[in-house]
Amino acid sequence: MHQVPTLALDGGNLLFKEERLSPGLLQQAKITAEGIVDSYSFMGYDAIAVGGRDLTGGLSFLQAQAERSEFTWLSANLVRKKTMQPIFLPSLVRRAGSLTVGIIGLTGEGGALHFPGGDDALLLNWRRVLPDLVADLANRCDLLVLLSNYTPDENREIARVTPEIHLIIQSSPQSKNQDPELANNTLILQTGKQGKYLGWMLINWQKSKKWGREDTTRELAFKKQELDGINGRIRRIERRESREDLLNLRSYQNLLASRENLLSEIIFLENERHVLIESGQAPATFENHFIALKENLPEQPEVRKIVDSAKSRVNVAGSSQAGSSATASPPPELQPETLVFTGWLTCALCHGPQTAFWKETGHSSAYQTLVSEEQQFNLDCLPCHVTAQYKETLISSNDVLLLSLPPHLQQVGCEVCHGTGKKHAASQNRSDISRKPDEAVCRRCHTPERDENFNYENDILRIACPASGSGQ
Ligand code: HEC
Ligand code: HEC
Ligand code: HEC
Ligand code: HEC
Repeated sequence: MHQVPTLALDGGNLLFKEERLSPGLLQQAKITAEGIVDSYSFMGYDAIAVGGRDLTGGLSFLQAQAERSEFTWLSANLVRKKTMQPIFLPSLVRRAGSLTVGIIGLTGEGGALHFPGGDDALLLNWRRVLPDLVADLANRCDLLVLLSNYTPDENREIARVTPEIHLIIQSSPQSKNQDPELANNTLILQTGKQGKYLGWMLINWQKSKKWGREDTTRELAFKKQELDGINGRIRRIERRESREDLLNLRSYQNLLASRENLLSEIIFLENERHVLIESGQAPATFENHFIALKENLPEQPEVRKIVDSAKSRVNVAGSSQAGSSATASPPPELQPETLVFTGWLTCALCHGPQTAFWKETGHSSAYQTLVSEEQQFNLDCLPCHVTAQYKETLISSNDVLLLSLPPHLQQVGCEVCHGTGKKHAASQNRSDISRKPDEAVCRRCHTPERDENFNYENDILRIACPASGSGQ
């Protein structure tokens, strides 16, 4: 692609997955968040809006990140309670080629005040801050961009009452990739969460400051394509026929005439477009793309390094969390005897063939997978790679427990699919155990994010334990 002036922007909500995390998970998630900040700095981001999920680690944590960031965190509506002054920069003006671009950040209201340090802060509704800010920037800027993690509905309302904003890049936590939607004279768009996609937009801005379909340009492109086709056909005939024959060849002469016509139409359209642009009436146009960040794309070695280092620091932190919880003896409800899950060794006593089969599946070595990745203390990974949850029965929300599971629960074990089995192991009664796990059981771990192609009907055949043959 040819070089064009670029701005790298993000609507926020990128540091944490949730607005509330357990203490152990939060400690690890902060390390990941630092890695994200370093990656975005390396990638040369310009500005990012402060999202509710960027404040999970607390106000002072995000301020410390802002200090380290080589990009600017923006929020026009997160203010100090005492002074009513914004805590982060409200807006930023950047040059992009010959354009002056104003960038505003807004923090959405979804629970964003429940963060450590939030007592000092106040989140104002956009209606209180946006009009003045826009009035000031609209005078100085050619193009006005809003980075917002408000809901899509709220962003449409912003677009409706603030036509001076030309582009809203939103990052509502629920949404997926969203093609640009024109609301009034504002384009609203979003790239899905979790860094699976990168959105890029090529903007051909015009003095009119109005988005529109540029019919002349499209017609021109179409005519030029047609011209290419005719030129090709003319060349083929010229290669085939002698010079004298060409003179008498009706189809050839017709092609030459069509080419003449097309050329004069193209010149006419080129002129028309030139006049539109010069007079400032041409509409602005854009192209939008989502690039899927597939595993097979080439690595950026510097970013790889940042990611690996963050992952390794998370594991080290988890390891010392596990160490300190082992020495400080766990409270009674966390004693192994009182654990709701009994573990695969018990089931193996009576279910030889099923156990032998399960041992061949990836489920039995899921924790080992984390060990070989050196991520076995990462609280973000553990719940799906061990025996810690069946439907509503879970120990996966307990950091201490999760980090100190006994070895016979360090697999995706029998009870993850068949339910807790202590009672059944004693009674040997089939009514005390569940036979076939339903789709929701699998989907808890085989999420779209982790296993895009999961298909219950097919995949269950690959892991369904065999019958015992003759007798039990
Ligand atoms: C002491 C022996 C014993 C232990 C231990 C045991 N089971 Fe069973 N299990 C049985 C017997 C016997 C049956 C067959 C009951 C019947 O047919 O009525 C059975 C049946 C089952 C079934 C089939 C249920 C059905 O509806 O067909 C499943 C699934 C199962 N067990 C899972 C487990 C799991 C998981 C564990 C470990 C948590 C476990 N069992 C531990 C003896 C045991
Ligand atoms: C507690 C989380 C969890 C649950 C519940 C779960 N899986 Fe898995 N599954 C995993 C993990 C983790 C792996 C990858 C294991 C590895 O290779 O380290 C996996 C791997 C698989 C594989 C790949 C084949 C293989 O042998 O590795 C299949 C197929 C599969 N699961 C199907 C299912 C189905 C069907 C269900 C529901 C009946 C299910 N899983 C429930 C976590 C889970
Ligand atoms: C929401 C549940 C979930 C979480 C959280 C999770 N995983 Fe997994 N993981 C899975 C499932 C399901 C599979 C199997 C996917 C498949 O079969 O395609 C898997 C597969 C893997 C595999 C590939 C195993 C193989 O050899 O094929 C690796 C490596 C892995 N996970 C590492 C991790 C790490 C590291 C983390 C934490 C940073 C993590 N996982 C967090 C569910 C999860
Ligand atoms: C990923 C999910 C999963 C895991 C883990 C799993 N099973 Fe199963 N199991 C199944 C499915 C699916 C079936 C088949 C149910 C059906 O189709 O009726 C099954 C069937 C069974 C049956 C009944 C077999 C029969 O036809 O009589 C037993 C017993 C059993 N499993 C025991 C175990 C034991 C013991 C373990 C652990 C060592 C285990 N399962 C681990 C999914 C799982």
